[in-house]
Amino acid sequence: MSESKKTEEKKTKSKTVKTKKSDSSAKAAEKKTIKKVVKKAKAEDVIAEVVVPADVAAAQAKPLKKEPEVKIEEAVKEIVEDLGPRRSVAFIGSECYPFVKTGGLADVMYALPKELVKQNCDVKVIIPRYKCIPWKFQEKMVYRGEYYMDLFADGKQFYVGIMEYEWDGVVYDFIDNEELFTSGNPYTNMVDDIPKFCYFSKAALSALLYLDWIPDVIHCHDWQAALTPIYLRTLFANTKLASSKTIMTVHNLRFQGIYSLDAIKYWSGLPDYVFNKDVLVQNYNDANMLKGGLAYADMISTVSNTYAGEIQSEFYGEGLDAHLRYHSGKLRGIVNGIDCEIWNPETDERIFKNYNTEDAIANKKANKVELQKELGLTVDENKFVIGLISRLTNQKGLDLVNAIVPQMVDGFTQLVVLGTGDPGYEDSFRYYENAYKGEVCSCIQYDEDRAHRIYASADALLVPSLFEPCGLTQLIAMRYGTAPIVRETGGLKDTVEPYNMYEDSGNGFTFDGYDAGLLLDAINRAKTLYFEHRESYDAMVIRDMEKDVSWKLSAAQYRQLYLQLKP
Ligand code: ADP
Ligand code: GLC
Repeated sequence: MSESKKTEEKKTKSKTVKTKKSDSSAKAAEKKTIKKVVKKAKAEDVIAEVVVPADVAAAQAKPLKKEPEVKIEEAVKEIVEDLGPRRSVAFIGSECYPFVKTGGLADVMYALPKELVKQNCDVKVIIPRYKCIPWKFQEKMVYRGEYYMDLFADGKQFYVGIMEYEWDGVVYDFIDNEELFTSGNPYTNMVDDIPKFCYFSKAALSALLYLDWIPDVIHCHDWQAALTPIYLRTLFANTKLASSKTIMTVHNLRFQGIYSLDAIKYWSGLPDYVFNKDVLVQNYNDANMLKGGLAYADMISTVSNTYAGEIQSEFYGEGLDAHLRYHSGKLRGIVNGIDCEIWNPETDERIFKNYNTEDAIANKKANKVELQKELGLTVDENKFVIGLISRLTNQKGLDLVNAIVPQMVDGFTQLVVLGTGDPGYEDSFRYYENAYKGEVCSCIQYDEDRAHRIYASADALLVPSLFEPCGLTQLIAMRYGTAPIVRETGGLKDTVEPYNMYEDSGNGFTFDGYDAGLLLDAINRAKTLYFEHRESYDAMVIRDMEKDVSWKLSAAQYRQLYLQLKP
């Protein structure tokens, strides 16, 4: 059976959870828990069972045509409005927009707490006070206290300062230590980063105790906060915090915080008994911080349902697939959303011309022309402009893009790249800009403002990732009416419905295998629709803008997890 047929079959199966207009069935669905079986890309591997609460599954499931249904929005509204008891949550992670951002983690650390606050949660976000945090925020921070905390195995003491900032109902506590958080970038090299984040994982807990803020749930993000669940159940086991539950969210399994066993033992000061093969030890001589955090957390989540299945396979498991299969009973996938206030073409002050679904087709063209002028591209509103906004790493499928730029740029098509990262990719995109002057522009930089303008101006956005836990750029693109062209992996698969020419439905263009020819084919399908069936393309632009990519439903799912942990 071909991959695409299998995909179709999977889609049909997932449609068995429907929302009907009967109150009783909706209520029954609410009480039940439905198991969604998620098959991974490598089909012969173990099947991951990702349990989705019934009401959420019902809201997510696509209604079949010609049946009376409750609109998804109504189902979502019901879930979101049924707030339940108030819960308190401490978010612990290494970056948070707008203070410090290197990727999507920062967006999530900002937007999810903001939505949770609207959904009956008290949220504190704990992040390091890096020196690179802009002064306009630093100057507004309020000093909440300071003390010394022991950390290393030899009892070495470290200063902990707590600086606070409140914004949009969320309280941000910055852990201050000038010795450790001096660099302009949150991440430098493992020798510095590992002790830095051992310190951070422990200091976050000690700060909660110091502030006497005992949350229901401590929500830890990625390896930089992965020791927190272990500290909690060992060195903090006899404190007030012991009643708190923990969730470990994996945003990207590739980064795990691995270093020599002896060094991590010394730097963390954790008891010997957690250095065993089921928790922190890997390959006898190394310790793996994420592995330990996953073992000790009460619940694990990752940022899409498909990725939750994929990471249990060898191909996507980054060496932790067996560990994740072992812990799969507490693993959930919840897809990311985006902040629809920051990303709003109607009000966005960084784009050339604002637009909504009424005037998007004309005004996106006006944005395109201005972008072409800004970037020195041939000015022509009829060209098909493809954007690529990305960290330039091999995760993002850039080898595929590199292989096909000459075929892509055919006189009718322009490519705009915005990104920084591996020097090899930076150079190859510079090369293409030079080789195709006026048709390719490579902005090798990190520039939030320019990113907004590209999302608004392009006709399509490429996200051909090798793996993608969730991906936010395709969500932002859709919000701006820019059709995503994505590989069917992780969150890309869960959020972009492929264009279906028979039904004139879908949000973008997809391909499955990691293959440059398939990417080119997907781009050509997009171009064919654009040049030969413009009405259909324009209809997709509007559909994309109307799609709900907000945090509403996903935040409600997190809230349900919190309630599950602390009923
Ligand atoms: P990842 O976290 O793997 O980098 P995501 O798609 O989740 O990928 O998030 C990327 C975020 O970073 C998006 O908000 C995107 O707009 C932003 N981004 C990536 N590269 C740049 C850049 N060069 N300039 C501005 N924003 C960027
Ligand atoms: C990671 C992933 C990305 C995800 C982001 C936020 O950086 O690479 O896919 O969207 O985290 O969860």
